[in-house]
Amino acid sequence: MTKMMADQAIETIKANDKGRYTVPTHGLYPFQWNWDSCLTALGFSHFDMERAWIEIETLLEHQWDDGMVPHIIFHEGNEGYFPGPTVWNTGRPVPTSGITQPPVAGYCLRKIYERTSDRAHYHDRLKLLVKKIYKWHSWFFENRDPENTGLVAIIHPWESGRDNSIDWDLALDDVPQDGVAPFIRRDTQHADPEHRPTENQYQRYIWLVQHFASLDWQNSVLHDSSPFKIVDPGFNAMLIRSIQDLAFLATEIQEQQIAEESLVMAGKAIKALESLWDDGLDQYVCYDRSRSCLVRNASIGGLIPVLVNIPNHRKERIAQSITNHDCKFGIPSQNPQSIEFERYRYWRGPVWLIINYMISEGLKDQPSVRNSIIEQSLELIEQSGFAEYYDPIDGKPCGGQTFSWTAAMVLEFLGESVNEQASPSGELQPTD
Ligand code: GLC
Repeated sequence: MTKMMADQAIETIKANDKGRYTVPTHGLYPFQWNWDSCLTALGFSHFDMERAWIEIETLLEHQWDDGMVPHIIFHEGNEGYFPGPTVWNTGRPVPTSGITQPPVAGYCLRKIYERTSDRAHYHDRLKLLVKKIYKWHSWFFENRDPENTGLVAIIHPWESGRDNSIDWDLALDDVPQDGVAPFIRRDTQHADPEHRPTENQYQRYIWLVQHFASLDWQNSVLHDSSPFKIVDPGFNAMLIRSIQDLAFLATEIQEQQIAEESLVMAGKAIKALESLWDDGLDQYVCYDRSRSCLVRNASIGGLIPVLVNIPNHRKERIAQSITNHDCKFGIPSQNPQSIEFERYRYWRGPVWLIINYMISEGLKDQPSVRNSIIEQSLELIEQSGFAEYYDPIDGKPCGGQTFSWTAAMVLEFLGESVNEQASPSGELQPTD
């Protein structure tokens, strides 16, 4: 079974491979997405190490001069996607969107590097990537933390990667809808509209895009001029983890200054993260910088900090609350006990394998919780295939099918269970 599932995962990634980048899935997402690519590169590292490096390199080739790494790179035309390059209008030679996405490049690159047997061969390429990723990390603090709090804000729900989470509902109410040019959504032509964000939310997403475009995408002014400014603990935790992993890589290649400055950035952010802990909900919560208040909602964003060195007692409480609900397939994107929970609608309830993966990785000190997340994730795939996301109650596949990062996470989980069982097959050993 393991071998068959691994083969299917590899085939899924190969089918989405465009040579130097991978699409999340054909049809619904026909370009390169930022965090999808980094996590998919982990999948490649199990069967084609060179291709794993290229995936991350291609993403970083499209970094903006100021350091931002965009959330979508429109490598080729495709009329079937909205909002496309003309809506973003960022003026890049290869068009890109104008916002970013969860920074997991440093986190994924460290794993890839550690699995690479011929490290000397990749030395110069690693050096270049480390510098670029460092520039991206610094960009966050320069542009998204103007008051030097140690934590960065997202200015569009799509930056979070959790597009329509309940976390954004109140803040989105403050985003206008007027003046939005008429548009035709394409996502609902590829996936069930009942599973997707609502029209009301979509209007506001597009208002923000138009607003930022009217400011010529000048990152130095976007934060302050955005009505939507949220400090997401999950996003910040992924950034912190990437910064820490980058510090490790920088040390490997004697980039001492990058290593030291990264550790200072990460240390400050970890301390600041504590201001987002909610004792009643037993997890971290978002902070709305426009309204100056915490957003008391139990979403997955507040559990992702297990990925970094938060205090152990907090990790234990998060691990405990994860086991407190009876969803069979890992960690739902919204606590099922909350009234807003919707089992099918995108980031308002469903399970995503990338989240199961990152949280299970963060719970290495809680082996029973971790192992059960891994087992449940693999059962889910066996039952429902490589979907975009799943109903956490009965495992029904939702959204797009044949998804790259879902397949990549399966290879990660299988690699892990193969290693843990010390299987002699070695079928998932990284190659380069
Ligand atoms: C959706 C997800 C986002 C992902 C993208 C491509 O927009 O919310 O996180 O990067 O699809 O898979």
